[in-house]
Amino acid sequence: MEQTVVSAQNPAAHRDGDRMPVSRSQELSQIAWDALSPLVIDHDAIARNRIVTANRSDTAHVAFDMLRTKLLQELRQNNWTSVAITSPTPGCGKTFVAANLAFSLANQKDCRTLLLDLDLRRPQVGKTLGIKNAASMESFLKGEIEVGDTFLRHEENLAIAANRKPAQFSAELLQSTASTDALFEMKQRMMPDIILFDLPPMLSTDDVLAFLPNVDCVILVAAAEHSTLAEVDVCEHSLAAKANVLGVVLNKCKFTPEKYGY
Ligand SMILES: Nc1ncnc2c1ncn2[C@@H]1O[C@H](COP(=O)(O)OP(=O)(O)OP(=O)(O)O)[C@@H](O)[C@H]1O
Ligand SMILES: [Mg+2]
Repeated sequence: MEQTVVSAQNPAAHRDGDRMPVSRSQELSQIAWDALSPLVIDHDAIARNRIVTANRSDTAHVAFDMLRTKLLQELRQNNWTSVAITSPTPGCGKTFVAANLAFSLANQKDCRTLLLDLDLRRPQVGKTLGIKNAASMESFLKGEIEVGDTFLRHEENLAIAANRKPAQFSAELLQSTASTDALFEMKQRMMPDIILFDLPPMLSTDDVLAFLPNVDCVILVAAAEHSTLAEVDVCEHSLAAKANVLGVVLNKCKFTPEKYGY
């Protein structure tokens, strides 16, 4: 499969003369992280929505830890940071996978993770985690509000931007230069190791294709007994023409490793 590296870069902002010394930018990014409001976890919501990596009492978290480690290795090898999470059709478990991956990554203390809800049509990250004070991602992408008013911090190294309300004309917004600039500014301020973008399904809108130039790679979530091979195939081909496809996560699968004695 031919693959193309596509990453969010603002050429104008990358002139060497504009760069700050690394130690100073790290210091500033720590200040930005410290200043974020805390994420108040709603334990009922995370239990109801099976966010098993947040407290690790359910052994199902192991599957996400394995996915996390593979993801980390792949990103580090390729010097990538941003990962889009999408699926062929609605309800395959994108938000479930994105949130579980985010909390699993949070347990990796040397890694700073951001999770952004960019399913601008049907934002669900806030509801899944029981977040009551989510910001508007439309305002964030338009550059109307700052990183500090957009993200909530969980422990030291996970920041989550849920979305309070759907946005109109989401595909146009996702491919606007304002969005690219807002994401570039976010990277500069927060210096994350990994950015997870929870996106809409691919087959019903052009939002995902519109946003792909902003990411380094993509995970496709398919639902066992729901997604068809043809759907997965169409999505993989369409993604591969524009981005690096990391792989397909088969979610909602009844046959877990436990059944084979692990
Ligand atoms: N592995 C799983 N086992 C059981 N239930 C799951 C699993 N994955 C997801 N679900 C449930 O399926 C529903 C859909 O999941 P989720 O919202 O994550 O999908 P989505 O792909 O983000 O949907 P949408 O396209 O609407 O954004 C939720 O109720 C979620 O709790
Ligand atoms: Mg979702």
